[in-house]
Amino acid sequence: MMPNDATYERLHARLAAAKQEHVLRFWHALSTSERMRLAAQVEQVDPALVAQLYAKRDAAQDFRALAARAEGPPAFRLGDDRPVISREAAQRRGAEALAAGKVGAILVAGGQGSRLGFEHAKGMFPIGPVSGHSLFQILFEKLLATRRRYGAAIPLYVMTSDATHDETAAYLAEHDYFGLPAADVRLFKQGNLPAVDAATGQLLLEQRGSLALSPDGHGGMLQALVASGSLADMQARGLAQLFYFQVDNPLVVMCDPTFIGYHLASGSEMSTQVVAKTAPDDRVGNVVSIDGKVQIIEYSDLPSECAARRNADGALALWAGSIAVHVFDTAFLARVAGTPEGLPYHVARKAAAYIDAEGNRVEPQGDEKNAIKFERFIFDLLPAARKSIVMEVDVAEAFAPVKNADGPAKDSPTTVKRQMVALHRRWLEAAGASVAADADVEIRPTFALDAEEAARRVSLPLEVQTATLFE
Ligand code: UD1
Repeated sequence: MMPNDATYERLHARLAAAKQEHVLRFWHALSTSERMRLAAQVEQVDPALVAQLYAKRDAAQDFRALAARAEGPPAFRLGDDRPVISREAAQRRGAEALAAGKVGAILVAGGQGSRLGFEHAKGMFPIGPVSGHSLFQILFEKLLATRRRYGAAIPLYVMTSDATHDETAAYLAEHDYFGLPAADVRLFKQGNLPAVDAATGQLLLEQRGSLALSPDGHGGMLQALVASGSLADMQARGLAQLFYFQVDNPLVVMCDPTFIGYHLASGSEMSTQVVAKTAPDDRVGNVVSIDGKVQIIEYSDLPSECAARRNADGALALWAGSIAVHVFDTAFLARVAGTPEGLPYHVARKAAAYIDAEGNRVEPQGDEKNAIKFERFIFDLLPAARKSIVMEVDVAEAFAPVKNADGPAKDSPTTVKRQMVALHRRWLEAAGASVAADADVEIRPTFALDAEEAARRVSLPLEVQTATLFE
């Protein structure tokens, strides 16, 4: 349908109410398809919300005051010799829930690999140290092996964004979902939020016929689960718990039964896996307890003197680093999805090129941060949980996120591959194999998911001299 004057009038009215009608400045010079795209974008944007967010841009939470009251969270810690619930009991409880088909999984994969110099969905990034398998393949095969272990379906919900959706859908279909039944993989797309001019609050145009939009953060998951019908699907399938993980961590212990068991046995509504921070400025979210409520303060929001605080024994007071692995009760998500205030918005100042009033492209100069973007974080749901538990895991066994391009920074492809090889080498050596010091080894999830399974699968004597994929 040709977007006509009536469309223009409708969009104009919507925008003018919030003094944002400049967005239509080039309308008359746009092609039909450009007009249709711009119209669809404008209809997605809530100009009143944008005005409200811009007005409150500096009224961010006072993290200094908050962090001053924060303590480490109560947690199931590694090496705890008198836990309230034993690891074995927790593991049995989680395994039962999995075997009963009560658990689903949510993978957030709206991000691109831009920081890695990889202009695709990050999940497509090759990370297998020997196999070259992608993050998606490794994560999907972990889920496949977990389903086989417990003899039950574990439906997977994958959140994509405008930037990653089509490519992800095509890639997964082309690879037959890496063995998962297609009926148990459901993609749903998160929404967008517009970027505004930091000085004026005006919506920015990325092109003459296109708004500057970006994904609304992984907190967009809540709205998107409802809008896509995925939450209803989870309920219809009788999934009581959802295991949540990020696309960048190939070491995640998929649907960790001990974690699910602690969650269930404690009556938690939203649980979090953490690692013990090694330095105050580790770039992870800080899981803290404030006035008895568990919540996460992002590393970028935590003042350095709070991060540096130590207990009498010398340990960091705020010791718990989030690895962004959660268990949610489905009923909890359904409850909070219905509350109008929902999740808070975080403000990020960024450099963004834009089209000026004359139609020229303007590049921000130097380190000027000319734009404001808004995002929501799923972990801000924590304080809404009636009960929330925290479980510590060993970084060497459960957390190796791919964040940065190779170079001096950690969490790069090279360091992640090294960590994968080291873990799999330990499994093989514990099983009695000998692995040459310079031989890379990789264990495919469908071969073994953990040390015990690896020990059952390898035949001794075994000497590994060169790079080997166990599959
Ligand atoms: C994130 C966490 C941090 C945690 C760390 C662990 C935030 C704000 N911070 O950091 O507390 O310690 O992971 O690795 O989350 N994503 C979407 N849509 C979006 C934005 C992100 O799906 O709009 C997905 C990404 O695809 C990725 C995950 O969320 O799977 C994390 O996003 P990223 O922006 O990389 O978070 P970090 O800053 O690395």
